[in-house]
Amino acid sequence: MILVTGGAGFIGSNFVLDWLGESSEAVVNLDKLTYAGNISNLDALRDDPRHIFIKGDIGDQALVSELLARYRPRAIVHTAAESHVDRSIQGPGEFIRTNINGTFSMLEATRAYWSSLPGAEREDFRFLHMSTDEVYGTLDGADPAFTETTSYQPNSPYAASKAASDHLVRAYHHTYGLPTLTTNCSNNYGPYHFPEKLIPLVIVNALAGKPIPVYGDGQQIRDWLFVSDHCAAIRTVLARGRLGETYNIGGWNERTNLDVVQVLCDMLDLLVPRATGSYREQIVFVQDRPGHDRRYAIDARKLERELGWKPAETFETGIARTVRWYLDHQAWVAQVQSGDYLTWIEENYANRNMEACE
Ligand code: NAD
Ligand code: TYD
Repeated sequence: MILVTGGAGFIGSNFVLDWLGESSEAVVNLDKLTYAGNISNLDALRDDPRHIFIKGDIGDQALVSELLARYRPRAIVHTAAESHVDRSIQGPGEFIRTNINGTFSMLEATRAYWSSLPGAEREDFRFLHMSTDEVYGTLDGADPAFTETTSYQPNSPYAASKAASDHLVRAYHHTYGLPTLTTNCSNNYGPYHFPEKLIPLVIVNALAGKPIPVYGDGQQIRDWLFVSDHCAAIRTVLARGRLGETYNIGGWNERTNLDVVQVLCDMLDLLVPRATGSYREQIVFVQDRPGHDRRYAIDARKLERELGWKPAETFETGIARTVRWYLDHQAWVAQVQSGDYLTWIEENYANRNMEACE
């Protein structure tokens, strides 16, 4: 079996569902169920004996050691993290605790477990660390995309905490020989994406008749990847990645934020038209994010060249699937938009000056 951390989050739950759809190998899923973790994402696995859910903190090294001893996984896919840049600006502490100390704790428990394994099992063991393109910093319009050798220049507390965890993983491979793999992926989108992030936020605000907030001038660029393509890339790297290597994962889909928002409005205009006018009329430009990175772009050629992975979805097909999923899962949206979510929306948007879009 494999151990997945953060398997009730956006990418983690997609990965667990994808894994159990593709293979018969069981998953132990360790997740703290923070505001971002939703056990209901895994409802389809409720009666599936191949899925064992453990509510717990990756920073609890004794718990992780106990799970490793009990289940003896052949691999770990470490996705658990605090993941939202705006939250890291308002309160970086939890990002340090989970992303840095938590990853350190995972590495320590894993090192002890891996060292104790007999020859063949030790040889085959893998620790895959899921990271982000944000560790590389920001690009100007004409700069080439990030490669695996681009120097780290993290700009937000989130990116800095992920960069620190990447460095720890690298050091554990270099110093102890721990069989690690690191992936640095661009912005994901798709089912179960928590509606504090841009794409699901636009969909749910549009449908609720609320303002659709675009930070600054909306000309920042992100490189979007449909989440199931990310899951396939992780399976590929886990199966055949070279030990100690890092692999960039991206969708070759660079878009300005405003473009993404307008595409979503136009799709909703076709699928669920407003009584009058367009969803575009709900767009408002709001105060920018401090230190906002201008452009991310991923060069994913190493992964294609070495391991043959390429994204299956284009932005057009992926975004259509995503909008359809949100329209079909309004109960899920309503369920996650409670308690902490409402507090966060109030905190994040209350002090941004709203300005109507022309
Ligand atoms: P998410 O915020 O949706 O989910 C994170 C999950 O981790 C949640 O289920 C949460 O409960 C769990 N978690 C948080 N702290 C924990 C702790 N201390 N112990 C155990 N579980 C804990 O995040 P996501 O968007 O699914 O991102 C998953 C991973 O992928 C992260 O490592 C993130 O840095 C990376 N990543 C995300 C994106 C993206 O676009 N979302 C892109 C590239 C890389
Ligand atoms: P986000 O989904 O938070 O991902 P990340 O910050 O990791 O890239 O944001 C994507 C882009 O959208 C980012 O440039 C910030 C911008 N954005 C808005 O313009 N308005 C919003 O309300 C949010 C949440 C994000």
